[in-house]
Amino acid sequence: MRRALVIMLSAAALLSGCSGGKVLRGDNPFRIIPQPLHVTEAPGCFRITSGTPLWVDDTLFLRTAGMLNGRLEKAAGWSLPIAEEFPQTGGIYFMMVDGFGPEEYNLRVQPGRIMIESGDGAGAFYAVQTLLQMAPVEIFSDIPQRVRAWEIPCADINDKPRFKYRGMHLDCCLHFFDIDFLKKYIDIMALHKVNRFHWHLTEDQGWRLEIKKYPILTEKGQWRRETVIGSLSSGIYDGTPYGGFYTQEQVRELVEYAAERHVTIIPEIEMPGHALAAISCFPELSCGLEDHYETATRWGVFRQVFCPKEETFKFLEDVIDEVVELFPSEVIHIGGDECPKTSWKQCPHCQALIRKEGLKDEFELQSWFIQRMEKYINAKGRQIIGWDEILQGGLAPNAKVMSWLGEEGGIKAARQHHEVVMAPYPKYYLDYWQADPDSEPLAMGGPTTLRTMYEYEPVPEVLTPQEQEYIIGVEGCVWTEYMPTPARVEYMAWPRMCAIAESGWYGGEKDWDGFTRRLEHHLGRLDRLGVGYCDAFFNPFIELHKDTPADKVVTVSVDAPDAEIRYTLDGSAPTEASHLYEKPFVINRQQVVTAAAFRDGKQIGQTKHKTF
Ligand code: ACM
Ligand code: ZN
Repeated sequence: MRRALVIMLSAAALLSGCSGGKVLRGDNPFRIIPQPLHVTEAPGCFRITSGTPLWVDDTLFLRTAGMLNGRLEKAAGWSLPIAEEFPQTGGIYFMMVDGFGPEEYNLRVQPGRIMIESGDGAGAFYAVQTLLQMAPVEIFSDIPQRVRAWEIPCADINDKPRFKYRGMHLDCCLHFFDIDFLKKYIDIMALHKVNRFHWHLTEDQGWRLEIKKYPILTEKGQWRRETVIGSLSSGIYDGTPYGGFYTQEQVRELVEYAAERHVTIIPEIEMPGHALAAISCFPELSCGLEDHYETATRWGVFRQVFCPKEETFKFLEDVIDEVVELFPSEVIHIGGDECPKTSWKQCPHCQALIRKEGLKDEFELQSWFIQRMEKYINAKGRQIIGWDEILQGGLAPNAKVMSWLGEEGGIKAARQHHEVVMAPYPKYYLDYWQADPDSEPLAMGGPTTLRTMYEYEPVPEVLTPQEQEYIIGVEGCVWTEYMPTPARVEYMAWPRMCAIAESGWYGGEKDWDGFTRRLEHHLGRLDRLGVGYCDAFFNPFIELHKDTPADKVVTVSVDAPDAEIRYTLDGSAPTEASHLYEKPFVINRQQVVTAAAFRDGKQIGQTKHKTF
């Protein structure tokens, strides 16, 4: 410890600054998400009042101290004085300490003081996120409460992450989201100790990043003529041009905003596939086999991809030059997924290149493409990460892999000693249904419930302990095919992302019941932060288990703990006196099953019904 602490406990510190208002008591037992590694509860509490001094022994902590003050100011209309001199009589102390790992912290709440120890700014920031979750939920309110003290129960917490990479992705191409929403998205990520924002910026359906050298990319490439209505197969289009892009100034602002919250933004520039918006601006970068190139108006995979010719590399290198200036991230995402080889197979240039370079096929050509771009990006002092198709034809020497096609790509890359982020579809795909598709908004498939996401173990057991070390983290993917608005993004992302965040942070045993009990309380925080999450895990899920001419067997389940399911077969709303669901039952063709979950005699969640 850089500095020994001698603190005189003072009753005055507990009572100071008491203006009008009530004392709001924090939470004991604690209900923190993600679960901290070691928590020892202790008797007593510390009261934060407007007179509680904040002390930082390193200016590195000033920003986090300021953010704590910002939250208090919003929630109570008062904040804490930053002490110029070491406060002898108690307060909140941020201390830089040797011997802590990255992002690790100790948080000790005692009756006379709160001590935050860490070896870096991130650790202190995460200690504050934990501290806020030990306080009453009202501390997350943006409407000032009449409160004179926030009471924090005493505890001793030592906490550190399981993985260094805890990511959340957002596709801003299929739909566009403004910077204010992205700031909110990052705020909520940071509350959950998620430290990587994977920003999907280029796609078939729109190019969203201003590139000064090629203004046409956003002047034209941001636009698509129209967008499919409803599911892909509807064949009906809205006839309304759709666009949106981020200026470099906005990008810089967001990168800085994220960094203040210990979130690194990883930009994704897709290559060689998912490039139709760029190709619509520069058809000469394609294999040139089509009469017409236009930004896509529906989601999917398109055969029009970058052709590996010198103009293309010049273009991509110019783009990367600006990208590395904008994003300090050590890692740049180069996409690499879903690149059909249709055009390359027919393209004289591509075929000649395959022969010239002695490549076996188009898959090796893709690998050659990625390796060439990797060299360029490595020369700029950055690393590449790509979706697992970059394994096809051979992995680039220094590439990291984001494993989305199940776990296979991740396993293969880890065995080759490449770092891997697990983002497997459908387990970590937040564009999948989270409950019964019959009563949920349109989604990609599934369902992938909160429970499925929570219970997924991101380190494949088939790997040896040494290979498992290459799994550096997890990421939740938010593809916005069916998420046209911020509200829909939040609905799909939360609370399932709470489960992924916990899998990324907490290295202890999984405990579904414990998680959901903490989550139910945590939703009160999200309410106050204005996050429009989905609470479908309280809803009964009615499914046809077996359907034969003789038998129609129905199962009903609910993921909320300590809940019982009551149901009716006559269309009436279940009450706590209705049939208790105990096991699957048989129904006849005319019956409608109506079910609801109850706890302590009160309904939780919605009533659901289904006619088979
Ligand atoms: C992906 O979902 N195409 C990475
Ligand atoms: Zn070609």
